[in-house]
Amino acid sequence: MPQLAINGGTPVRSLDDWPAWPVFDEREEQAVLEVLRSGRWWFGDRIREFEEAFADFQDARFGVSCASGTAALKLGLFACGIGAGDEVIVPAYTFIATAAAPLLVNAVPVFADVELDTGNLDLTTVESLITDKTKAIIPVHFAGLPVDMNALGEIARRHNLCIIEDACHAWGTKWRGKGAGALGDCGAFSFQMSKNITAGEGGILLTDDEGLADRAASYSNFGRIKEGAFYEHFLVGDNMRMTEMQAAILLVQLSRLKEQTLRRQHNARLLNRLLSEVPGVSIMREDPRAEPRSYHLYMFRFRPEQWDGVTRDQFLEALRAEGVPCWAGYPMPLYRNPLFQRQARGPEGCPLSCPYYGRQMDYAPISLPHVERLCAEMCWIGQQYLLAEESAIRDLAAAVAKIWEHKEELRRG
Ligand SMILES: Cc1ncc(COP(=O)(O)O)c(C=O)c1O
Repeated sequence: MPQLAINGGTPVRSLDDWPAWPVFDEREEQAVLEVLRSGRWWFGDRIREFEEAFADFQDARFGVSCASGTAALKLGLFACGIGAGDEVIVPAYTFIATAAAPLLVNAVPVFADVELDTGNLDLTTVESLITDKTKAIIPVHFAGLPVDMNALGEIARRHNLCIIEDACHAWGTKWRGKGAGALGDCGAFSFQMSKNITAGEGGILLTDDEGLADRAASYSNFGRIKEGAFYEHFLVGDNMRMTEMQAAILLVQLSRLKEQTLRRQHNARLLNRLLSEVPGVSIMREDPRAEPRSYHLYMFRFRPEQWDGVTRDQFLEALRAEGVPCWAGYPMPLYRNPLFQRQARGPEGCPLSCPYYGRQMDYAPISLPHVERLCAEMCWIGQQYLLAEESAIRDLAAAVAKIWEHKEELRRG
């Protein structure tokens, strides 16, 4: 008699029996209706209110709202003065936006390896990547766990580099008591649909530096300045503005974020306890200096060497059949994307090969061992599932243990 659901056994639970995302109620409906009826859909009070409230929530002095997390990263780079020919160190285990943002300001991303047990930038390798062209580092607080910002701050000071935090997973995370996004020169957040606080799309750049905030705000608004006239432009800028409706939704979403963050954290820690008892998988390392911390994902590693030939993808398929929503995450390191491999095959112009850079960047030979392994071994559970009842979290761990116990069935299959 097969035990595993993938072979016809009884599943641990149903895939339909998990919290839906986004979470919203009549307060979002009311907030949107009010904006709709006001006739003021841009440049409104809610945008200013949200910028202040979110900056305050993350312990930053200034917030510059914008259209996306990618826009926020681009604003941060621009406001820090990063441009053509500058190198920017980024981790290779992250979403494409972390590396695309430097390219969008004609800078050159330089890929760094990450820690195997956190997925965060491996600070022991960063200094070896610094050249006379390096101007900035973009640490990603991956899944919500902050990079060691004291150690990174030291490296940045020694080499006179800007730190633009990619805090696009780190709403609500604090590092030694101060909010993510307020720890470097500036920090970027995303509010797209899958994020722990969302208006469908949206972003914000946080900083304690008023000049930096003003430059970012100007760039996001066609180079206008606070005291200037509507048709007076001081910089080459773009339109990256958030709408009043997005801000209205985000203000309501923000009112739930603290409680949701603590709930996800509680469930993630429960999962850590339960999964650390199960052979064949490894939990990720936590950091007591990160309290509270956001979980955009709950991640654990499949350990192929312990499964006698069962693959990570077979395991994940079996886990989904048991009723656990999970997936493998990034299928390849960022540098293996055609974008970079294609660039590597020949000069295609700025920023990778241009007079401002004066060098040729070749991504083809890059292979970072930890990033390669994480792409092959990682298992991801999305943030909304951590909002479930404790019983669902126990089922999740029980499903992993069940597959381990009956792994023979997968091998035979
Ligand atoms: C780590 C990271 N950085 C940047 C982004 C970009 O955010 P957006 O999609 O809002 O542009 C994302 C979002 O998906 C992300 O996960």
